[in-house]
Amino acid sequence: MLEKLKRNKSDKDYLISEIRRLKKELNAVLLVHYYQENDIQELGDFIGDSLQLSQEAAKTQADVIVFAGVHFMAETAKILNPDKKVLLPDLNAGCSLAEGCPVELLQKFKEKFPEHILITYINSSAEVKAISDVICTSSNAEKIVNSFPKTQKIIFAPDKNLGKYIAKKTGRDMILWPGSCIVHETFSESKILKLKLENPDALVISHPECEEGILNISDFIGSTSSLLNYVIKSDKKKFIVVTEPGILFQMRKKCPEKEFIPALPEAACNCNNCPYMRLNTLEKLYYCMKNGSPEIIINEELRLKALKPIQKMLELS
Ligand code: 13P
Ligand code: SF4
Repeated sequence: MLEKLKRNKSDKDYLISEIRRLKKELNAVLLVHYYQENDIQELGDFIGDSLQLSQEAAKTQADVIVFAGVHFMAETAKILNPDKKVLLPDLNAGCSLAEGCPVELLQKFKEKFPEHILITYINSSAEVKAISDVICTSSNAEKIVNSFPKTQKIIFAPDKNLGKYIAKKTGRDMILWPGSCIVHETFSESKILKLKLENPDALVISHPECEEGILNISDFIGSTSSLLNYVIKSDKKKFIVVTEPGILFQMRKKCPEKEFIPALPEAACNCNNCPYMRLNTLEKLYYCMKNGSPEIIINEELRLKALKPIQKMLELS
């Protein structure tokens, strides 16, 4: 049967039909982030931002969770589902924010501020989550920060851009860990301003991981799914989109009559594609489902410590 498929279909069609077959055979759910390549988005049982994906992982009835996203997302799914198999097509699909915040250094940083609680962005390792008081994502960070009294002192890690934006929105004076996203910090403010001049009818919509200068010239700021919902609901017809361009696939699909202009990075290259997210391919997705590997494994003691602040976030969301 497989050989027949192989003979009669192109490689891509073969991979797609095999991934669909394996989903049924394994009773697997395929969770996909918006920054994945278009073909993977098309195969997803659920596509969402980090919060929605963790909520979906928390309630799934599937036996296997296949995560087309990056390591911290799959690791969060495993923390929430210790008895399920969690697969990630490429274990090297990391995140510059998680990598730029080693737990030993964050622990030392935290010790300097004993009166502060630690609110940590979900783009972090399980070890970092384990020393945190509560986790947040870009879609609930404001709500999580506001759930604490104004007098509560806060350290926010690891994204300084999101932290600065939330500090401004909530009127809090938070201590920020100096991390950033290599994708969102690469966008050029001057090129966005030029695009705005060339397209005076376009709105600038940005992810809060962008630098302050870009957020200041944005008409709307939000997580990937908030950006998508915004363009769906807006009566405007043109948008300059300042985030990883994977999201454009859903925007164009949901609003074929609207125009989406991807913002450009400073350099003349494609470095606004997330190099970690894009490590996942259809081939790797197929092989990980076929082989049951690479699998996310986590030590139980660490899992229990990391679970607490994640559960707190889910309760507050
Ligand atoms: P969202 O939660 O907005 O999808 O963000 C995830 C991410 O990694 C952004 O760079
Ligand atoms: Fe991490 Fe940035 Fe890639 Fe998101 S886009 S996974 S924050 S490196």
